[in-house]
Order: sequence, then C-alpha cells, then structure tokens
Amino acid sequence: MTELKDVGLGLDVVPLAGYIGAEIRGVDLREAHEAGVIEEIRNALHTYKVVFFRDQEIGHAEQIAFARRFGKVTPAHPHEEEPPAGFPEILPIDSRRYESRLGRKRTSYDSSWHTDVTALVNPPAASILRADILPPYGGDTAWTNLVAAYENLPKELRDFVDTIDIKHQFNTRATEGSQRERKVREANLVTYHPAVRVHPETGERALFVSPGFTRGAREIRGFTPSQSEGILKVLWDEATKTEYTVRLRWAPGTVAFWDNRATSHLAIPDAGHLGHDRVLYRVTLEGDVPKGVDGRSSESVSGEPFYGS
Ligand code: SIN
Repeated sequence: MTELKDVGLGLDVVPLAGYIGAEIRGVDLREAHEAGVIEEIRNALHTYKVVFFRDQEIGHAEQIAFARRFGKVTPAHPHEEEPPAGFPEILPIDSRRYESRLGRKRTSYDSSWHTDVTALVNPPAASILRADILPPYGGDTAWTNLVAAYENLPKELRDFVDTIDIKHQFNTRATEGSQRERKVREANLVTYHPAVRVHPETGERALFVSPGFTRGAREIRGFTPSQSEGILKVLWDEATKTEYTVRLRWAPGTVAFWDNRATSHLAIPDAGHLGHDRVLYRVTLEGDVPKGVDGRSSESVSGEPFYGS
C-alpha cells in the first residue's frame, strides 16, 4: 500500500522504496517560493535523500531560481566549456554532445555509480536534474542511500571505515589534446575524503565512497594498492546494494532533487546503443568540505574549491 504523507501545505510526499526516494505531489516549482513549502521540500529531501516532481513546466531560469531557494548555485561544472547561452549554471547532459565528442551516443556522461564531483574538496551539497528529451524506453536513473549503507554495516566494519580516507579524482576518457582533456588536466581535482562523512544538517553518517571518482586511484591513505583495492571493492558493493536504491523512469518535465551528501547515483547505461536522444539539465548547489566522524576534514591534494553565488 502506498504511504502518502500530507505535510499540511498542499504537498503530498509519496515514498517509493524501502530506504530511499519519494515523489512530492501538489507543487508547481515555478511557484515554490513560500518558506513553509521550501522547508517541507528540504525536510523530505533529508528524509528520503532524493525527491521527484512530475510534469513541471520549467525552463533553465525557473530551475535555477528554484535551486537558489536551497543554497548558492554553482557554475555548471568545473570542466564545462559550453553551458547554454545566458545560463552558466546549467550543465546539459545531452547524448548529442557525447555523440559529437565520442562518435557514439551515450546515456549520460558517466556510466558508473558516483556522487557528483567528489574530486572537489567541497563537492556539491545537492543536484537538481530536469528531463527534457528522453528515449521511448531505457535511460532510467537510480539512486542509493549511503546512510542506510553505513548504518547496516557490522559495527566492527563501521568502526574501521570511520577512520580511513579515500582518494577521489577524475578519470577522463577525453581524447588527448581535446579541450575537455585540457580542462580536466588544468583543474587537476584530487582530494582525500573521509570514507564516512557526517551530514552537516542531519548529523547522519554516510558511506562516502563515490565509485566513479575512487576507482581510478584505488587508494586508501596508508594502505597498499592491493589492500586498498580489496577494501574499496567491499565498500562499493555495500554502497550500491539493490535494496538501498530507487529507480526513476523519467518523463519530460520530471525533476529529481538529490542530497549529494547522502547518495550516489547511476545513469543506467542502456540507452546509448538504441540511438535515441536523451537530454537533461542539471544545476548543483555549493557544498561544504566534508567532515569525518572525529571531526577531521577532507584534504585537497590539488585543485580549487568550487563556489556558487
Ligand atoms: C548525473 O550524474 O548527474 C546525471 C544522471 C543521469 O544522466 O541520469
């Protein structure tokens, strides 16, 4: 039976899976300005980690304005060279771009589980993704609840992961000499993050292992490569267990809003080979520097923090 929570301001919050994900109904994001409504969306985000809105008729400007209700909006991405004209905050996730760059369509820019831009010392606090053009089937996105993944570890393993730091960096497949490859090299974003981060608003602990950004270096500070590899494999598997996930079937006008401090996500890479287009637009909110359970902060190895306005 669907559990439906009327939060008192005309919004209904409908949970979608056992550990993560809810649809919020009864809100038009063009008009979501009231402090009470924003607070209810924020509460739902903290509880469900990712929330979905359907049938939203918004463009870039409205998406950015909605995001600003929750924090500072960053530029599109540290490596973005061509955001839409007039909207430097918008990151297009566009199969047509990947086709012109790579000679083949892709579902999304990454085909692995990741938390957004964790190579930064201050990864985005949250991301808001809006669907525009979609394949007739395929191209879903899944999110996983990293708080549940942490809390369900055996205590001995929790005590251990509380103490370790993992290296995060980009693994670019960009063609050598291309503008993109130059951007990645120049920004040179590399950071050690605690494997467990404490959420600055909820106080919850999350297993912060972002496979897409940790699978390149495969390095836990102080461990040998083979030790790091083995430990990371266990943690990646725990963080992405099916039971901690929710899967979204997009439609034009669907908006997903996720807490990047408590989730990883996967653009399921099953649409590129079909030859259909898939176009979505993302904005991100400025994030804090993660802190581990003992209060230690992430440490930048190279690259600059990423600030919004
Ligand atoms: C993202 O990783 O931010 C985009 C996910 C997607 O393409 O579904």
